[in-house]
Amino acid sequence: MSESASLIASLDELRQQALAACAEAKDLRMLESLRTSFLGKKGRLTSILKGVGRLSAEERPLVGKHVNELKTVLAQAFSEAESRLQVVAEAARIAAERLDVSLPGRKLASGAQHPLQKGLNEISDIFSRMGFTIAEGPEIEDEFHNFDALNIPPEHPARAMHDTFFLRSEDEQTSLLRTHTSPVQIRAMMKHLECNGESPLAVVAPGRVYRCDHDVTHSPMFHQVEVFKVGEDVSMAHLKGVLQYFLSTYFNRDLPIRLRPSYFPFTEPSAEVDMGCVLCDGKGCRVCKGSGWLEVLGSGMIHPNVLKAVGMDPARWSGFAFGLGVERLVMLKYGIPDLRLFFENDVRFLRRIGG
Ligand code: DAH
Repeated sequence: MSESASLIASLDELRQQALAACAEAKDLRMLESLRTSFLGKKGRLTSILKGVGRLSAEERPLVGKHVNELKTVLAQAFSEAESRLQVVAEAARIAAERLDVSLPGRKLASGAQHPLQKGLNEISDIFSRMGFTIAEGPEIEDEFHNFDALNIPPEHPARAMHDTFFLRSEDEQTSLLRTHTSPVQIRAMMKHLECNGESPLAVVAPGRVYRCDHDVTHSPMFHQVEVFKVGEDVSMAHLKGVLQYFLSTYFNRDLPIRLRPSYFPFTEPSAEVDMGCVLCDGKGCRVCKGSGWLEVLGSGMIHPNVLKAVGMDPARWSGFAFGLGVERLVMLKYGIPDLRLFFENDVRFLRRIGG
């Protein structure tokens, strides 16, 4: 076979194979790699055309014509295949992106506030609306703020009653987990004095407290809210008014309250506060032990020694203070029968009360 005839035969073979491959290409990437292998710089056409150099001057135009024809035919075949595969690719993309707008929406699991956090916020908000400033103090306290400044000196029996968790510390200072939120009274008053000098203040201090006892009705960690107000003419009447308003607002009904004489080292006089039982409306039930009253918090007029400890003159300033247990108030408001529910983290319980 002459050189040109064999070249033309190769070109025809290439043409057939390329057309067949084009027709079978499944996607654009495959088509692109076919184009490179047939028509690319190092492709099969290039290697066939290397033979053209060996042709005689008469043979060249004939072969050249064949080559041009082949290029036109293949260019068209590739471009047709490309259009076809573009349509296929577009259809695949649309199918993949298809949205069934009739499907029900996916439910986003949203978190909820823990019932105790919710209680802390509700309680703080009521005082905040009355003009009390929200303050916080550290959970790791020292003896000065937790005891001494609150008129509980080292040998005072109240210290023993507090079931304190002491912490081992590097320095001489004894650290402990605060046993109540009352130390925030000391911190808030001292800070207030430093920033504003001697002047009235009203503070609500929510937070965690710790005591070394643990049974069905006590958790070693629980929550309190401390409330106090200091001014030049603050009296027990203010205390009673604020308590009355707070309890009625929190429980969303008119509630009778009563004050019974009591003792706390940091108040003088001190009073235990009862409110009408919210479960039986004062008629007497199991929860109020038939009395119609529930003991809800401790309160009193801030002891002169406490004012002295922070540097306020007790001859000029007076104040009331009270501290309440958040767990108990939340349990009463939402009818929660068992303290342990707060700490078991059963989402069914958390969902019912939280929000
Ligand atoms: N700190 C007391 C306790 O944890 C509660 C308390 C009683 C706070 C009387 C007060 C108060 O501010 O006046 O048991």
